Amino acid sequence: MSLDSRRYHITTYGCQMNKADSERMAGVLENMGYQWSENPDDANLILCNTCTIRDNAEHKVYSYLGRQAKRKHAQPDLTLVVAGCVAQQEGDALLRRVPELDLVMGPQHANRLQDLLEQVANGQQVLATEPIHIVEDITKPRRDSAVTAWVNVIYGCNERCTYCVVPNVRGVEQSRTPEAIRDEMVQLGEQGFKEVTLLGQNIDAYGRDLPGTTSEGRHQHTLTDLLYFVHDVPGIERIRFATSHPRYFTERLIQACYELPKVCEHFHIPFQSGDNDVLKAMSRGYTHEKYRRIIDNIRAIMPDASISADAIVGFPGETEAQFMNTMQLVEDIEFDLLNTAAYSPRPGTPAALWENQLSEAVKADRLQRLNRLVGVCAELRSQRYANRIEEVLVEDQNPKDPTQVMGRTRGNRLTFFPGKIEELRSQVVSVKVTEVRSFSLTGEPLSSLATTVR
Ligand code: SAH
Ligand code: SF4
Ligand code: F3S
Repeated sequence: MSLDSRRYHITTYGCQMNKADSERMAGVLENMGYQWSENPDDANLILCNTCTIRDNAEHKVYSYLGRQAKRKHAQPDLTLVVAGCVAQQEGDALLRRVPELDLVMGPQHANRLQDLLEQVANGQQVLATEPIHIVEDITKPRRDSAVTAWVNVIYGCNERCTYCVVPNVRGVEQSRTPEAIRDEMVQLGEQGFKEVTLLGQNIDAYGRDLPGTTSEGRHQHTLTDLLYFVHDVPGIERIRFATSHPRYFTERLIQACYELPKVCEHFHIPFQSGDNDVLKAMSRGYTHEKYRRIIDNIRAIMPDASISADAIVGFPGETEAQFMNTMQLVEDIEFDLLNTAAYSPRPGTPAALWENQLSEAVKADRLQRLNRLVGVCAELRSQRYANRIEEVLVEDQNPKDPTQVMGRTRGNRLTFFPGKIEELRSQVVSVKVTEVRSFSLTGEPLSSLATTVR
């Protein structure tokens, strides 16, 4: 195959972590001389970056792979790669189920893609799922946005929530050093990026595995310390972080978000259930009272902070009354955004083996009721934006209306307003909100400011 005919296509499922991995793998491929192909059928390397958090995520992958595997019979130079969490979980079974595959690689191996593809080029079918120390990547990711970027700060998860497959597929916590994180952010600033989201499955665990304690005996490298350490990176105007765990969320962190102007007043703190017995069965390590206190403490100093979360309904043994405690929490807190899911038993997790599983009908009914409530609350919550002036960081054109651009407020609300993307991309614009919907806003620009205005 000549170098200029190498084309790749990546399909990504799952969370921000997977999206960030895909961007890094795309960077590796482009470094090897591959070019992006929008149409998978024109590509000679197909990489599917998979998610296994819920059952339906996995099914999508199998149907996608089936189609591509068929293509390989007509086009033998096609390279088929499965990466991500299904790859890690299924491993060898995946190779047996889809023998057309060339490479099956777990998330910890994302930075090793070139090396693994060289083994494939030698004619081997390659399986890379053994736990490893994640290498700092040297290749530049191919980022989807020119304005906002993800930066991993901690890989893996050491929690053992009884429903969750993540620790099995992402491995143990591995924090990057503050210096490596800052260096990446400095480069992003130089390249013109304006916003960074720091990523970790349990980002509050950042630094636990790094050496060093302070004179008061606490870890020297906490998420809070990291925020202070990276805050002055030139060019970066906004910093976000996700995902927070209520068990480890600290007062110091709230204080840092309040003090540091670049850190957005935007918190993603999943609560999973509003019932203490369910939380216990989930091994979450906090009560709903503790969760409510965290939100109260945030709102006490940042009344307008945007709060989002994840929740699961239909966990094994969840009674109607326990489910209603989740409904109550949602009603009381008025989230800006809530990701909801029906419990899905995952292989290799404790809760999947319990006998008190609920029927699909009960789970579907509770999900529907919760979603209805979420819609109502989001609409109410949105009203507070009406007629307000918000700072919007412009990311792109509105795909549905080329006379408009779109971006996000500090609270992460998608906002549309009239303007030309060539002039406004990467700018922070003050926008007067004229229209509110449950999850997005429309407004009129007041001014265009090239630098931070806060
Ligand atoms: N680390 C984050 C969440 C990671 S997974 C945290 O601790 O909150 C993202 C979300 O998927 C979870 O918050 C949970 O709401 C959902 N989820 C995880 N496992 C699930 C399962 N087995 N069934 C249904 N939803 C699940
Ligand atoms: Fe899964 Fe719990 Fe870890 Fe989140 S904290 S990734 S829910 S085990
Ligand atoms: Fe899915 Fe893996 Fe993320 S299972 S949610 S892609 S960590």
